[in-house]
Amino acid sequence: MPSQPGGGVTAARIADLTDRAAAAHVAARPRTAAALAAAAGAWLGTVPMHWMRDWPQPFPLLVARAKGAVLEDIDGHRIDDFCLGDTGAMFGHSPPPVARALRAQAGRGLTCMLPCEDTLAVGALLSERFGPFRWQIATTATDANRFALRIARAVTGRPKVLVFNGCYHGTVDETMVRLRDGRTEARPGLVGQVADLGATAVAVEFNDLAAVDAALAAGDVAAVLTEPVMTNSCMVLPDPGFHQGLRDLTRRHGALLMIDETHTISTGLGGYTRVHGLAPDIFVLGKCVAGGLAAAVWGLSPELADRFASYNASRPAGHSGMGTTLSANMLQFAALRATLAEVMTPANYARMEAGAERLQAGLARAIAAHAAPWHVVRVGARVEFICAPGPLRNGSEAEAAHAPALEAAIHARLLNRGCLIAPFHNMMLVSPATTRAQIDRLIAAFSATLAELFA
Ligand SMILES: Cc1ncc(COP(=O)(O)O)c(C=O)c1O
Repeated sequence: MPSQPGGGVTAARIADLTDRAAAAHVAARPRTAAALAAAAGAWLGTVPMHWMRDWPQPFPLLVARAKGAVLEDIDGHRIDDFCLGDTGAMFGHSPPPVARALRAQAGRGLTCMLPCEDTLAVGALLSERFGPFRWQIATTATDANRFALRIARAVTGRPKVLVFNGCYHGTVDETMVRLRDGRTEARPGLVGQVADLGATAVAVEFNDLAAVDAALAAGDVAAVLTEPVMTNSCMVLPDPGFHQGLRDLTRRHGALLMIDETHTISTGLGGYTRVHGLAPDIFVLGKCVAGGLAAAVWGLSPELADRFASYNASRPAGHSGMGTTLSANMLQFAALRATLAEVMTPANYARMEAGAERLQAGLARAIAAHAAPWHVVRVGARVEFICAPGPLRNGSEAEAAHAPALEAAIHARLLNRGCLIAPFHNMMLVSPATTRAQIDRLIAAFSATLAELFA
């Protein structure tokens, strides 16, 4: 892999494209600009969540409506949405069964700290879809990971989590680390960071079983926490045998294996775990599991659940350190039930897979036509173009392949052409609602953008 990603696109060309994209964005959205200016001042940093400013445009879209795979902004533009809320809406915006279930539940209570009949149905559906885990509900995947990590520590009596360099599992403090010169250290930029994260985490490179073995041999790792495919840097696929190796090593060293399926649920029915026959001790899934409503699930294997029950019976009385008041509310159960039963279906996954294959092939053709030293990678409905040669093998290679200014210019030009992709990386999702015409428009927009870059 070259040290310079991008494949020879000059800084001047990137700057020119960025300027043209910004000018086109501003010219096309006078109402949005005026509305944002009129409301300025209320939010800390202009928006209610900082990542709403992470898009490459001079100002964000103001969404009037999101339905299926289309966003409409208040200036009347219809946008083909391949970001899909960065997976929260991977099954399309407001899937009809979920919208119906939410409408029905909305008049019957929203939250009451008690189970309902949907709770019982959801438990059974979770096991049917993902395997015979013992389930808990959280509101975000971040929380699900945090709570599951507590269980791992409690049951093993060990302090650390092993994560892979370049990982992201939500804003779980312990995982905000990186590997530098063989040491695990806090990532730069963490706001108000106090604790020494090296005391509670160890980072090694993905696809490096020897490093995993060495780290686990220290005997202080409670769990290995990993995505099946690294999706939060430039996408990194596991080497053949990597997951089996992780399972063998964790068993040998008495650590737990925790699989975070929050993004790789794109793989197919039951996520990467089911499709590839993984056998984790802990299974975590958030984002799209309730069709776009905030909910996450985490499950323990029956054996681990029994170990936890023994621990739980012996611990002193007091707060467990897990739980948020609105988790496991009735609205979540309505949405979970509808999603699991009527949206996460074989037919929908088949549509997503076919569409994503078409997108992958079209993007690869465009890259080849321009002889760009780039590549395309896919895990089910999740497709990513990477502005460097591939395949990438670990987080360090993924970091080196990332070309922020170039990628921002591409994203901005794609939006000028009516296609939205995820802001942080070059990720595109194909939902069951995404049409062939939308996919072909994205391929055409990508080709036109490459033509500008490599002219
Ligand atoms: C693999 C993975 N796990 C967990 C999370 C956290 O999800 P949330 O932001 O919903 O807490 C993310 C978010 O991007 C993720 O990619």
